[in-house]
Amino acid sequence: MAHFLEKELKALGAQVELRELGPQGAGTNVDLPPIVLGKYGNDPNKRTILVYGHYDVQPALLEDGWDTEPFTLVQKDDKLIGRGSTDDKGPVLGWINSIEAHQQAGIEFPVNLVFCFEGMEEYGSEGLDDLIHEEANKFFKDVDATCISDNYWLGTTHPVLTYGLRGCSYYSVTVEGPSADLHSGIFGGMVSEPLIDLTHVLAQLVDPQGKILIPGVNDLVAPLTPDEEKLYDNIKYSMDDLYSATGSKTNLFDTEKESLKARWRYPTLSLHGIEGAFSAPGAKTVIPAKVIGKFSLRTVPNIQPRELDELVFKHIDNVWKKLNSKNKIEVKLLHDGLWWLSDPHHWNFEAAKKATKAVWHVDPDLTREGGSIPVTLTFEQALKKNVLLLPMGRGDDGAHSINEKINVDNYINGVKTLSAYLHYVSVEPSS
Ligand code: BES
Ligand code: ZN
Repeated sequence: MAHFLEKELKALGAQVELRELGPQGAGTNVDLPPIVLGKYGNDPNKRTILVYGHYDVQPALLEDGWDTEPFTLVQKDDKLIGRGSTDDKGPVLGWINSIEAHQQAGIEFPVNLVFCFEGMEEYGSEGLDDLIHEEANKFFKDVDATCISDNYWLGTTHPVLTYGLRGCSYYSVTVEGPSADLHSGIFGGMVSEPLIDLTHVLAQLVDPQGKILIPGVNDLVAPLTPDEEKLYDNIKYSMDDLYSATGSKTNLFDTEKESLKARWRYPTLSLHGIEGAFSAPGAKTVIPAKVIGKFSLRTVPNIQPRELDELVFKHIDNVWKKLNSKNKIEVKLLHDGLWWLSDPHHWNFEAAKKATKAVWHVDPDLTREGGSIPVTLTFEQALKKNVLLLPMGRGDDGAHSINEKINVDNYINGVKTLSAYLHYVSVEPSS
């Protein structure tokens, strides 16, 4: 993907370099995928806009339940289906399409573009934070504002601009005892089972209503002010949007407002999986010797990752001590990314509002989001310039799920919106 982007961008006349980041994690011999850095245009009379996107995607297998090969893009009716169509290969291609369209139409490109496309976003953007800090006054020094297209409309009909994201702190809990898997008929009842211990620990993290059971976490959350409460009044989102996006009526809250607050401004804890547990079809009578539970917390203002780690480790330690198990436990932080909350009245956002209106003929809603893009805050703080999230896809695109798609008109109009944004942002008065 990095080489593909390098080739496409070079063919359009951009300067491109691939930055190697060295091996992933400590003690592995797998190299991190390179960062694609590029520049298109360097006219001192034009604004310079940094566009960030990611070329990595979530894993996908046909057996997961896809109707078509996940890594072959197919068009079915009005939808382009394939892994990354909306998250985030489609929008990354959108920037390239925009340059190409300007060239073919013979229209002068309105800004200087700086690109930063990475390949580890879905794993917490390992390696990129350091590069951004190192390059803030070098490669990124002329940047006037940043635009990220890696988010979605809230529903399926109304465009949005996004000014907030939750952070994500991702943990693993390893429980191990026997030196190899055991026969449950021979050893069941004679030894402590790692999976029984682990599920007990995981069940003490969150209750089925979504309430976080780790003492102290909810106390770190910034209180909801009456002004903030009002922002939820005019958002175009219905419970039907939630039902259709999840294909179910499994909502934890009965109203739109409470649902959106839970997604945007409160922390949540999700359990993701257990490595090493028997998960194939059939009925194997095994006692797994070593199991690794995975969970993450979505963080919000004012939760600080180190404070959160301390609460998480302390709580699991307390739960574990009460168990009195002879198995071994180890809790690790796998990665973390910070929450981000910005100013949607900055000129960068004003330009995006005009672009959205020009293409979609309505004013965008201003939204926060529940997902995370770890480097958003890094860009804002390191470059000291505003960051805008300008989406292409819709709320029902199925990012991270099977049959991920982007609607053709969201793609085409998305390219127009990105392009119109560059034109408006080139002339928008500084605020
Ligand atoms: N595109 C998403 C981020 C996103 C999700 C924005 C929902 C708006 C709404 C991004 O590709 C993503 O999935 N990020 C990961 C980051 C994590 C691994 C730190 C995520 O949110 O799970
Ligand atoms: Zn994603």
